Amino acid sequence: MKLITTVEEFNKFRQEIKENQNLGFVPTMGALHDGHIELAKQAQKDCDIVAVSIFVNPTQFNNTEDLKKYPRTNKQDLELLEKTGIDAVFMPSEVEMYPEKDERIFDFSPLDTVMEGKFRKGHFNGVGQIVSKLFDIIQPNKAYFGEKDFQQLAIIQKLVKDYKYSIKIVPVQTMREKDGLAMSSRNLRLTEAHRDAAPLIYKTLTQSLKQFGTKSVKEIESFVMETINKNPFLKIEYFEIVDAKSLQQISDSNQTNEPVGCIAVHASEIRLIDNIRYNQIK
Ligand code: PAJ
Repeated sequence: MKLITTVEEFNKFRQEIKENQNLGFVPTMGALHDGHIELAKQAQKDCDIVAVSIFVNPTQFNNTEDLKKYPRTNKQDLELLEKTGIDAVFMPSEVEMYPEKDERIFDFSPLDTVMEGKFRKGHFNGVGQIVSKLFDIIQPNKAYFGEKDFQQLAIIQKLVKDYKYSIKIVPVQTMREKDGLAMSSRNLRLTEAHRDAAPLIYKTLTQSLKQFGTKSVKEIESFVMETINKNPFLKIEYFEIVDAKSLQQISDSNQTNEPVGCIAVHASEIRLIDNIRYNQIK
């Protein structure tokens, strides 16, 4: 496995890849878990060469405390990627990625004004900045993103379309712990009590799946919010049932044939997100 830390070195690596070889790319912020590895394995299935990036991108954090406390486990990450058989890891420094302040403003509207965009101001602009830079450097044929970050995936698809990148975006299903909790680097920071409470999020989402079509959208939203807020260790920030493409909230189940329930929950200062598709086979 090649460990690459500069753009120049990556350019050399990229030039050595033959025309007929496919390059798959998995961008991450490290603190890798099986969710990230699933993306990498999917890439290995589809592509001749796979590159993973590890970079905790400061411009997408709207909270400096969150950035400071973001888990960094580089040594373990590299061992895991080596074991997985990844070809190259791009792990640049902050000055390498941002030699100058990035002043670019991305317009992902209406996708970035709802949910995460409403509660984490500037977050998706930062994601747009780093992912576009990474796409320019890595120049992959395919890039892999998790459905766990449902809104991010929709925004990346818009980025590729608007900026005409010839990169195929491949969505990968959410990997979960045995108790249903969506895997996340932030789970490492949960206290024992909050970790014990957290599986209630997905449990409630799966219960709401059974109600879809029989109860009203409003009733389902109230059910999810009340059930989770009853737990003293969890506090809902938002729960919305939206159309998977536009991400706009629906008020009636007939308004879309791709309804998705998206949720953000505070477990003390740790913010957890998850989602469920309501059009999956029951
Ligand atoms: P990070 O949170 O490290 O996630 C990297 C990729 O892994 C994202 O595409 C995310 O959706 C996916 N992922 C995370 N948890 C997952 C799970 N449980 N199952 C499946 N996939 C999962 O998302 C980011 O980093 C950053 O915003 C990034 C795109 C790298 C830009 O900085």
